[in-house]
Parts: sequence; C-alpha cells; structure tokens
Amino acid sequence: MTIQLDVSGMLSRAVPGGLSPERLEALAPRLAAAHAGLVADADRGILGFRELEVQAAERARVQAWAAAHRGGLEDVVVLGIGGSALGAVALRTALLPRDWNARSREQRGGRPRLHVLDNVDPRSVRGLLELVDLRRARFLVISKSGSTAETMSQYLLVRDRLAAAGVAPPDALCFVTDPARGVLRRVARDEAIPTFDVPPNVGGRFSVLSPVGTLPAALLGLDVDQLIAGAIAMRDRCASDRFRENPALAFAALQWRAHVEAGQGMHVLMPYSDALRDLAPWFVQLWAESLGKKQPGGAHVGPTPIVAVGATDQHAQVQLFMEGPADKTVTFLDVEEPDGGELTIPGGGPPELAYLGGHGFAELLRAEGRATAGALATMGRPTMTLRVTRADAWHLGGLLMLFELATIYAGQLYGVDPLDQPGVELGKQLTYYQFGHPDWQRMKAIWDALPPADPAWVL
Ligand code: PA5
Repeated sequence: MTIQLDVSGMLSRAVPGGLSPERLEALAPRLAAAHAGLVADADRGILGFRELEVQAAERARVQAWAAAHRGGLEDVVVLGIGGSALGAVALRTALLPRDWNARSREQRGGRPRLHVLDNVDPRSVRGLLELVDLRRARFLVISKSGSTAETMSQYLLVRDRLAAAGVAPPDALCFVTDPARGVLRRVARDEAIPTFDVPPNVGGRFSVLSPVGTLPAALLGLDVDQLIAGAIAMRDRCASDRFRENPALAFAALQWRAHVEAGQGMHVLMPYSDALRDLAPWFVQLWAESLGKKQPGGAHVGPTPIVAVGATDQHAQVQLFMEGPADKTVTFLDVEEPDGGELTIPGGGPPELAYLGGHGFAELLRAEGRATAGALATMGRPTMTLRVTRADAWHLGGLLMLFELATIYAGQLYGVDPLDQPGVELGKQLTYYQFGHPDWQRMKAIWDALPPADPAWVL
C-alpha cells in the first residue's frame, strides 16, 4: 500500500524553467512558513477536515444507520451541489464497478444504485424521478448551509412527490447539514427526519470525509473505515515542513512555483485510471474555489485547474498540452494494480496488430501514460506523477487528504484564504433577487445597473 509522488519531471534537470536545487533551498523558509501557517490554522480549529478522530462518533452513527437502512433500498439519491456532491461521485466511480447503476440488483449484490443530482435542469430532475421508486429510495439532502437554492428546490419537489405517494418523510429522506443552523436542521427537528452533522469547521469542498461523503458511501456498503484510515495515514505523513518529507507540501509548492515563477498556472490533473477519473472534477472544484481569490492587497490570483483523462485525452487535449502555450503543468494519476486484475489483449489477429497480442490492457494504459509524460518532456512541459498501488478505499482516502492539505498550503503560498468563497455569493444573491427572496431586494440596484443585451448585437 503506497502513494508516491514523483516530481522529477518538474525539476530544472528535466525541463527548462523547472525547479532547481538552489531555488528549492532558497524556498525552504517560505515552505516552512506555509507549513507553520497550516499548523496555526489547525490549532485555531478551522481545519476540521483533518480532525477525523474527533468525528469518529458521528461516523459510527452514520455507519450504524446505513447498515440498518440499506437493505431493501433500490436507490440512493444525493440532492446536493458543489462540495456536497462531487465527493460522492468520486467515491462511487472509484470504489464501485463501472456502470454500477446499469447493473441488475443481483449483479450489485443487493446493494442500491447511487444517483447524484447536482443540477436543476428539469430534464435531469424529471428523468431521475421517473426512474426511482419512491418507496424503495432514500433521498439524501446534503447541504452544509441548509439553504442552497438548487438543493432546496430539489428537496421541495421530492417532498411534494413523497406526500402525493403517501410516503412519510422520515422513511425516505435523510439530511446532512450543519448541527445547528439552517432550514434543514429545523425541518429535521419538526418532522423527525434522520439527520447527520457536517462539522461546523468543515467547509463544503473539504467535506468528503464527513457524512457528506461517508453516508452515501456507507449506504453503498463501501469501506468507510479504510477510506478514513488512508486519509489519517496521509495526514500524519504530511507532518513535516520539509519538501521531501511532505507530499502535500511538495505538490502545492511545485504547482504554485510553476505558476508564479514560470507562468504555468494551468494545472491539469490527468488520471490514467477510469476508477480515479471523477477525482479530477472533485480536485478542480477544490483547487479553483479555494485559490481563485482576491488577495488582501487587491491582486487577483489563482491557478486554473483542468480535467483530462488518460488515454482518452491523448486524442483530444494533449495536442494543446504539447504544442499550445507553455502555461501548464500536468499531474498524472497512475494505478499499479488494475481493479479486477489484468485483461490480456488476444493475439491471432492481422499481422499488423501482432505487437499488441499478449500484452495487457492495464499494461497498455500505463505505457500510454509514460509515453505522454515522455512526449511532454521532449517539449519541455513539466509533469509529475502520483502513483498508487491500487484504487481502493485506503489509497483514495490518502489522495483526498493529500489534495486537501495541498490546497491549504497553496492558500498560504498564494496569500489567500482557501476556506472562503466570497466570489460565489453575488451570483447566488442575484438569483434570490430574481425570485423575489425578501432578504435580497437590496440587489435591485446592482441588477438594474447591469447593461441590458443590445438587440443590435444579438446575432
Ligand atoms: O465548497 C463549497 O463551499 C461549495 O461548493 C458548497 O459545497 C456548495 O455551494 C453547496 O453548499 P451547501 O452544502 O451549503 O448547500
């Protein structure tokens, strides 16, 4: 069981503009300060995602409830968005066989399907509700704030449908929300709906290891204990302020330095593993929403994370990565042992294809990853590789923790608060205004001052 971070392809001996040993030495005090900043934040109690032991009692409650309720369930439906949805998708894709929801109940070993409804397009909402038998489903309404318009509108619809079908809300709903605040908490109390807490010091995009992720995981029968064990092992491994001993600090430092010193602010995460492909959108939200900020001095900073999938994107975005602007880093995710074992490519076909026969599909996928890294190196493009033994719960927990810690370090290095998201608010408030929300009528002045579309320029 190992997680390795190979950063050779980010160094000056590999690519022009890469990190040199002298520069690393010069940066050491800055990195030590970033680590000290993280420790200070942890001591202030604002990094709740690290406090996995403190959350053990709530996690045990989640696991016990899930064990008691998953039997007989055909569907688990997450109603949530952003940090309240992307973690569940990443866990499902990594830890369940492909096309899980398309499998028969027998093929699923009696375990439920998992749907994550993270948008309010009526096509998706209607389509999902047409599929689900309300009497054999559990809707997980996941919202830290308990007020997000997208999630609340989904909740209102489901509530309505349950009432029409004569299903009691406590039999089909479960809430995950703040322990004290928000509408969901009040409804939970009034209507006796089973509810689990998002710790107040754990923000949405850092919440995958809280009930936000562990409740869907436990209902699916996934190994929550191993997920948490892997995360704790990674957290403890990242206890040093030295680059070589702390993969989260190394990841953050290299990405930040590539951005601010070499103009490489586009950070591609490219899993060469279908199990880990939905880790990339989860990372994108974490990196973008945490680091794209206005510094206290007023400068706008932040990297642009990009999802790519190997080998698929070798036939799409890799052309851009190779010959487009030299403004990117590429981080590969590599899995040594494929889920379900190797699958051999048969020989015996046309002679032109004989070179493939007898090799494995996983062998081919990993060779393609190495080839892409090599090709990028020939163009002087920086890459690094995160390599795991297997894409199982333990390794996934480790990767999630590594990226969360790296985000805090990167916040220190960019000089921004990675835990807030003030830039998201105005859009939300203008939506509330359009819907006549009584608390947001003061948005009228901003709304009215927006330049209207000019019909002369509507083509
Ligand atoms: O990371 C975040 O804080 C956001 O992406 C939130 O997760 C998202 O806005 C949903 O918020 P809530 O869980 O309060 O409904």
